[in-house]
Amino acid sequence: LRIIRTIAEMAAFAPGDTGFVPTMGAFHEGHLALMREARGKHANVCVSLFVNPLQFGRGEDLASYPRDEDRDFHLAKEIGVDVMFAPASEEMYQGQSTLINVADITDYWEGQCRPRHFDGVATVVAKLFNIVRPRVAYFGWKDLQQCLVVRRMVEDLNIPLSLSFLETVREPDGLAMSSRNVYLTPEERSKAPQLYRTLGTIKSLLELGGTNPASVDALLSDGRLSLERYGFAVDYLEVVSLADMKAARRAGEAALIVGARLGTTRLIDNCRLKIPQG
Ligand code: PAF
Repeated sequence: LRIIRTIAEMAAFAPGDTGFVPTMGAFHEGHLALMREARGKHANVCVSLFVNPLQFGRGEDLASYPRDEDRDFHLAKEIGVDVMFAPASEEMYQGQSTLINVADITDYWEGQCRPRHFDGVATVVAKLFNIVRPRVAYFGWKDLQQCLVVRRMVEDLNIPLSLSFLETVREPDGLAMSSRNVYLTPEERSKAPQLYRTLGTIKSLLELGGTNPASVDALLSDGRLSLERYGFAVDYLEVVSLADMKAARRAGEAALIVGARLGTTRLIDNCRLKIPQG
């Protein structure tokens, strides 16, 4: 496994059949699943490791975001990743006047809770795509809104690559893997799986047929109350359309999404959902 730190060196890396996994490091099984998938499908696998300052808001966890490059290196090496692109911040941003704003689908949920977050994500992802020039880029479905933002950007800007979104990898108790889970105290960690359990309960009730808008609203507010009883501060709990991220009550491809804080840690999760004909 070769570590590349400069854009110039990365540009010299022969393009071709590259599978690309963009990350901010602190690898967990979710990241490793993306790398394994890419390894099985491409001649070259490149992973980027860059804690992108542009996507953190003021007061967020940029300084404390978990970093362990040596551990990440060894994990990526075991999977057979070819290149780890790990630039310094100054290498990526030598002044940056251009920002990519994917309108509309960033207006809600994470976009509302974290103003400008998705501008930072879209901008760095576009830069990484231009630097790495992959054939396919892999993202985890846990960050559902991020997946849809990147998909929209790739379509709108005609970026010549394909995207592959992989299912969320979970701990045995259901908690979605996330680099931020290390922030949880033991007590918070024991409560955290409630997020996924609540999604599961609402999903089964919805799919059983409680789909007139009033009963969906009632299920969501019950879910919110139950999470609050466990100590979560709920930012949103909604059924959204997979086409545009808008709250959805009509039959079709949808997802149940949640963003909530447990102590000082923000957690997000989602599950896909088919809203049956009412
Ligand atoms: O999901 C992440 O880890 C980041 O948002 C990404 C896609 C690597 C961009 O910095």
